[in-house]
Amino acid sequence: MTVPTTTTGRLVEVDHPLVRHKLTLLRKVETDTAQFRSLVEELANLITYEATKDLETEPIEIQTPVETTMGQAVSGKKVAVVPILRAGLGMVDGVLRMVPVAKIGHIGLYRDEETLEPVTYYEKFPDDMAHRDVLLLDPMLATGGSVTVAVDAVKRAGATSIRLLAILAAPEGIARLHADHPDVDIYVAGIDEKLNEKGYIVPGLGDAGDRLFGTQ
Ligand code: PRP
Ligand code: URA
Repeated sequence: MTVPTTTTGRLVEVDHPLVRHKLTLLRKVETDTAQFRSLVEELANLITYEATKDLETEPIEIQTPVETTMGQAVSGKKVAVVPILRAGLGMVDGVLRMVPVAKIGHIGLYRDEETLEPVTYYEKFPDDMAHRDVLLLDPMLATGGSVTVAVDAVKRAGATSIRLLAILAAPEGIARLHADHPDVDIYVAGIDEKLNEKGYIVPGLGDAGDRLFGTQ
């Protein structure tokens, strides 16, 4: 599903049989930590394919073993990948397989279990964020509080082109991010029904960080 509008960022639910299959495996309660980690990486790789569809290219002349021909090279802005710690770390390798020369920033946030408000504990970004397309990584867009604070931080660091790559989103988080940062496009493998009273995505997949790092 692609919903382009002029007033908010785009919302793209990556629609592909492999994405649907892997997302289903990821949700299952019996999926263990090792499988969960591989699936998050694979899904991040597939989402990146969609999220980088509009990168600019330019023609270049190359020599094949047979003859000289014209090819295409990615041009325009370079990429910065910014995982939101902890769970965003699980997506990094899948994204970097597609854009290996990207620089990497980090933002450390956790959601206070009582208030659900994000608490920032770490920030480190490349110094040329203004000249990069930023791919912000977080598997879960729940209330949207964490991503909103992370977008504030990358904007303070100079970024003007920002896309969120997530695995699951709740309608509440999408609405919050579009309201607070209408310039940020969202690419997601699945959009779920709602949040429960603890702020968990329903049906969801549980706590992404705990399942990735085996800390339940
Ligand atoms: C999870 C998840 C997001 C956040 C989403 O992180 O990885 O960052 O919650 O919730 P929100 O949209 O309501 O802000 P968590 O706070 O559990 O930290 P962790 O990644 O260190 O486990
Ligand atoms: N964070 C998670 O890891 N899972 C949710 O369902 C909501 C927030």
